[in-house]
Amino acid sequence: MAKTSKRTFYVTTPIYYVNDVPHIGHAYTTIIADALARFQKLAGKDVFFLTGTDEHGQKIEKAAADKGLTPKALADSVVGRAQDLWKALNISHDFFIRTTMDFHEKGVQKLFQMLLDKGDIYKGEYKGWYCVSDENFLADDVPLQAEGCKTCPDCLRKASVVSEETYFFRLSAYQDRLLAHYAGHPEFVRPQSRMNEVASFVRGGLKDLSITRTTVKWGVPVPGDPKHTIYVWFDALHNYVTGIGYDWNMERYEKFWPADIHLVGKDILRFHAVYWPAFLMAAGLPLPGAVYGHGWWLKDDTKMSKSKGNVLDPHVLLRSFGPDPLRYFLLREIPIGQDGNFSHEGFLHRVNSDLANDFGNLVQRTLTMIGNYFGGEIADPEEETVEDARVRTDFDGLKRRVFDLYDSCAINRALEEIWAYIGLVNKYLADNQPWIMAKDPARRRRLARVLLQAAAAIRGASYLVFPVMPGSAERIWGFLGEPKKPADVPYDDLGFEGFGPGRKVGLPQALFPRVALKDFIGEDGAAPLAPPDFRREQTKEGVIPMDLVSYEEFRKMDLRVAHILEAERVPGATKILKLKIDIGAEQRQMVAGIAETYAPEDLVGRKLIVIVNLKPAVIRGIESQAMLLAAITADNKALIPFFDRDIPAGAVVK
Ligand code: MSP
Repeated sequence: MAKTSKRTFYVTTPIYYVNDVPHIGHAYTTIIADALARFQKLAGKDVFFLTGTDEHGQKIEKAAADKGLTPKALADSVVGRAQDLWKALNISHDFFIRTTMDFHEKGVQKLFQMLLDKGDIYKGEYKGWYCVSDENFLADDVPLQAEGCKTCPDCLRKASVVSEETYFFRLSAYQDRLLAHYAGHPEFVRPQSRMNEVASFVRGGLKDLSITRTTVKWGVPVPGDPKHTIYVWFDALHNYVTGIGYDWNMERYEKFWPADIHLVGKDILRFHAVYWPAFLMAAGLPLPGAVYGHGWWLKDDTKMSKSKGNVLDPHVLLRSFGPDPLRYFLLREIPIGQDGNFSHEGFLHRVNSDLANDFGNLVQRTLTMIGNYFGGEIADPEEETVEDARVRTDFDGLKRRVFDLYDSCAINRALEEIWAYIGLVNKYLADNQPWIMAKDPARRRRLARVLLQAAAAIRGASYLVFPVMPGSAERIWGFLGEPKKPADVPYDDLGFEGFGPGRKVGLPQALFPRVALKDFIGEDGAAPLAPPDFRREQTKEGVIPMDLVSYEEFRKMDLRVAHILEAERVPGATKILKLKIDIGAEQRQMVAGIAETYAPEDLVGRKLIVIVNLKPAVIRGIESQAMLLAAITADNKALIPFFDRDIPAGAVVK
């Protein structure tokens, strides 16, 4: 992405085929796009982030027939699961396009007609080899095998012969213009190594491209010649313009087009870096800033894909860890252009070491000390020493480097830098030993300084990790009493100045789960265990078995009055509701097994008791940051004791 003074930022993911539910490989592209979108918002840009599903074509037609469904019914069933996954991963897209949407189909027909009128599309006869799985025509130089068949060089599946009347796109006419564009815009294809691949493919000669099929019924009909349907890639690529309004919301289209960056896997780079710019040139539309071809996630050194049976279901990890550890791992582990091997050991190592130990502990220790020593308030500090000042000035340098790294898509390096800084702050605390200072009343202002530097550093770091771990950053802002909108703190103003004496900070909750490998991996060492059931077991007598607890133990429970701000059903779940609650110092989300007793509209505005210092649990991919108190009836329904007169949210219950 070239650094520009442009105020808008438009990022896209590929639109996913609906022949199968998305796996970690698909989640990867979407998480990268989400981190870039969130960063650019933080940097003050007006951002549009588009994702969606690719629903036409022979591959979907065939997958639906195999399942005895219509293609639309298959698409409808898969699309909800993709959307659920994006929700569980905290993806902040602005629009989800489906290529079966009416405005998209009309836009594609309009662009097709435009190229036909110009003579860039003409009718002819196609005879050649086609790979249904990749929806791709094989190059002539792919050799015939002994049995007289050809195999797709990309996915190694058998191709089939296609011989039919077709409309061609005059791709050959764009060879020189494409090469000139690459030469003039070296950042158009990224990383650089992929630009070389693309340019040498184009230099090798481009043939006209068949862009309609008569044997595929499931597609957008060719205007005026409906026995042909439009080739799925011609249809799908145009989602990038129709999705922001081409032909139906021209104001928004004009505002955001051309895209700043199309994120794609390296397997589909050619479609985006050769065909797509040629289609756009033909239509007289501006070209996107960059096409970034990212690497693959492999399992046991092989690309994760359904046909190889080695895909990882992200929901398994999401249920136990919530979205942020997975987002962090995928973005931290490899640079965007390279392949990575997914291992549960590697994942747990990152979660336990980088998240729970380095960052989580720093937050926990610092805020607990401010709570214990200063009643939760940032106290008046003594002057900065050189060493204190370094924690502040290092942050200023870090902020600039991280900006440049995010801006150039080097997300893993941005995270490395942030963690080096977290290491420095941990060392600063270890060197200063505030827990020893606390014993000496003469050193209170020195103690206040050390804790102020650490808390301000945590605040700064939380903004910098926000693009990658938005949920955790928001929770930290809650602990620190920050306004929860990143846009409220312009990136340039981010520093220690905005944080000083008088600020009230809350008690921290555990940020990241620490999970031992043996508790996560099943007996056979391969399959992750199902997460523990969050519902409590009841005995036959309807009584929850309970050991006696001491008053000291009971006192550890932080019970508060919560005000229910929002309540909603969780798609696909019959027993739970998702609530947004106000607990005085902050707002939280929680999940409760009360959907059988209460409708969401019964709950909004009511006040009840919640436990606010339980470790968060992830239920159905949603992080639950509190637990409510309810009585369990004989038929296992939850009845909530509500307050019958007014009391402020956050009031202590004991
Ligand atoms: N429908 C086309 C894209 C059309 S865009 C106009 C398509 N869909 S896909 O569902 O097969 O793949 C979508 C994206 O997921 C691709 O960018 C692909 O590279 C990515 N991934 C699929 N498996 C992957 C991994 N194992 N690892 C990383 N990304 C992978 O192609």
